[in-house]
Amino acid sequence: MKFALRGTTLAFRADPFTVAPDAAIDCNDDGAVIIEHGRIVAVGPAVATLAAHPSIRIESYPGHLIMAGFVDCHIHFPQTEVIASYGKQLIDWLNTYTFPAELKFADAAYAGRMAEVFLDEVLRNGTTTVCAYCSVHPQSVDALFAAAEKRGMAIAAGKVLMDRNAPAGLLDTAPRGYAESKELLERWHGRGRATYAISPRFAPTSTPAQLDAAATLWREHPDALMQTHVSENLKEIAWVKALFPDARDYVDVYERCGLLGPGAILGHAIHLKPREIKALRKSGAAIAHCPTSNTFIGSGLFDLKGLRASDAPIPVGLATDVGGGSSFSMFATMRSAYEIAQLRGHPLHPAQSYWLATLGSARAMRLDHRIGNLAVGYDADIIVLDLASRPLLTERMRHAKDIWDVLFAQMILADDRAVKTVYVAGRDVSVPK
Ligand code: GUN
Ligand code: ZN
Repeated sequence: MKFALRGTTLAFRADPFTVAPDAAIDCNDDGAVIIEHGRIVAVGPAVATLAAHPSIRIESYPGHLIMAGFVDCHIHFPQTEVIASYGKQLIDWLNTYTFPAELKFADAAYAGRMAEVFLDEVLRNGTTTVCAYCSVHPQSVDALFAAAEKRGMAIAAGKVLMDRNAPAGLLDTAPRGYAESKELLERWHGRGRATYAISPRFAPTSTPAQLDAAATLWREHPDALMQTHVSENLKEIAWVKALFPDARDYVDVYERCGLLGPGAILGHAIHLKPREIKALRKSGAAIAHCPTSNTFIGSGLFDLKGLRASDAPIPVGLATDVGGGSSFSMFATMRSAYEIAQLRGHPLHPAQSYWLATLGSARAMRLDHRIGNLAVGYDADIIVLDLASRPLLTERMRHAKDIWDVLFAQMILADDRAVKTVYVAGRDVSVPK
């Protein structure tokens, strides 16, 4: 019931976008975390922390880093099977690969099998919480929440709403999409660790009536999340302009129907105009930065620095966006975010990368008071990372100057092999490699 993990511990004290890196973290070379009833009850230097909890079972991890599990705030559960598909950009990629894959999720048995494959891959990579899009089929949502509940995972998910511009088998209607979402929300939202995310896919696949219906449901359940896509690809933006001639811009399509606000997570947000940025800042909505997707399907270079740097930074989380994204790994995702920031002229500090991949995403999901940190009172969603998971990392670690050098080299070079143990609410749910 009560046990301890011993190794190098990493926790956040403050947001590294607002304080210097060293002031943002608490790191103990030889640290311990005490876990009881699925929660973290103590963290600190090992000797003192363990002395305060005598005769406790200790799992020792010398040469390992103990931190909060990764949080991926934008991922598509039915796209697992189309990850790494060649040669298309957004609209063609959706039509060629994504929609045919999503059609298969009409079959509840198939959705159930794929939910296991998906969550295995998520956990194998050390991600303990996701905010996921399912397909348009309610049975895909039931399948994912049920699989997550079995593992004890805190996830958010929702049925995609689409009532135009997709194959007939993927379309609902405004009233049907509302009714199905409402029923799913009432079944899952707040059950155990589940959160419902109202999920109009994006403006081109929803009529104004459907966006209004989604906003109505959100008004009725303001503590649910709302997720959609915005301003990802230039052809998409031109299409939205043609479909919504009265809107001031892409963000306005959501803003004027009541789909912006705290609890909204907008994927991508790459090509924003000054008015759109101002509207987002005012609204409290968060952005999911999906770097491997933005490069893989050729969408553009997200302006993280510009959107975070201000008196009123827009909340940003980090996300894989599988299958547009090319990896389930938050190491690969942090690496890609670093490369995009470099192309925009500044090096993203590892304090900021790891913060975005844990607390930043948890904050976007409004869960940062209980997940995303290795801190007292937080749920014990914890990963243990082997710092010498490859010969090259063993060698690189010998030359690491400080914790930042360690964290940076890991995020550039590590993959799922580094994920030694995964705890969800204090339970070992590690998946074989
Ligand atoms: N925009 C609308 N749907 C999607 C999707 O499934 N993936 C990505 N990357 N962008 C989208
Ligand atoms: Zn997406």
